[in-house]
Amino acid sequence: MKQIIVAIDGYSSCGKSTIAKRLAEYAGYTYVDTGAMYRAVALAVMRGEVELPSLKGLDQISVGFRDNHVTLNGEDVESQIRTLEVGNMASRVSPIKEVRQYLVAQQQLMGRDKGIVMDGRDIGTVVFPNAELKLFLTASPEVRARRRYDELVGKGETPVYEDVLRDVNDRDYRDTHREESPLRQADDAIVVDNSNLTREEQMEKIIAIFNDCLNRQ
Ligand code: DC
Repeated sequence: MKQIIVAIDGYSSCGKSTIAKRLAEYAGYTYVDTGAMYRAVALAVMRGEVELPSLKGLDQISVGFRDNHVTLNGEDVESQIRTLEVGNMASRVSPIKEVRQYLVAQQQLMGRDKGIVMDGRDIGTVVFPNAELKLFLTASPEVRARRRYDELVGKGETPVYEDVLRDVNDRDYRDTHREESPLRQADDAIVVDNSNLTREEQMEKIIAIFNDCLNRQ
């Protein structure tokens, strides 16, 4: 069976990672969460391993994956990158051209042999403009803020819903208005709005789209 590249883009907290991971499991493909790579660079900045604005140290760090967990210099930092603070720092480092070039080059290497599901903001537009399947996921800011809020509570944090909503809106603005690779829907992407879909309904829909795409190869 021919292997393809699946590029999944969309706003923050619209369930991209969960969907991408499950699709990769279904297809037997490699899953790459590029947001986690930007978060790992943000963590390196917070640890003082990379300096801003000079970016001194950027070429000394290594970002990778082990068992679907992101690693920074070989250390599993998956749980440390999932905080609001690291998310905010990630949205400050992700507009920087050199950071993007550094990570995009690694992402393109990861997709060399296809059989990959990659999620992010610029996968269908910049990283893999020729991906066989491009999905653009979206949901209303309120639905996404509620999901993000529940996720943080589940981790033992004590967020305020209004703060989380403001954070979602701010991040959307920064993601879509930055100069370098702004988030936008590729012309040939299939849009899936999951505001009113359960995870299962959404998964069924996406698996049907994937199989349809595979059959057309
Ligand atoms: O999806 P996320 O919240 O884990 O992403 C963290 C930050 O990285 C967010 O501000 C968007 C940015 N990002 C990006 O610019 N390009 C990507 N391909 C993935 C994430």
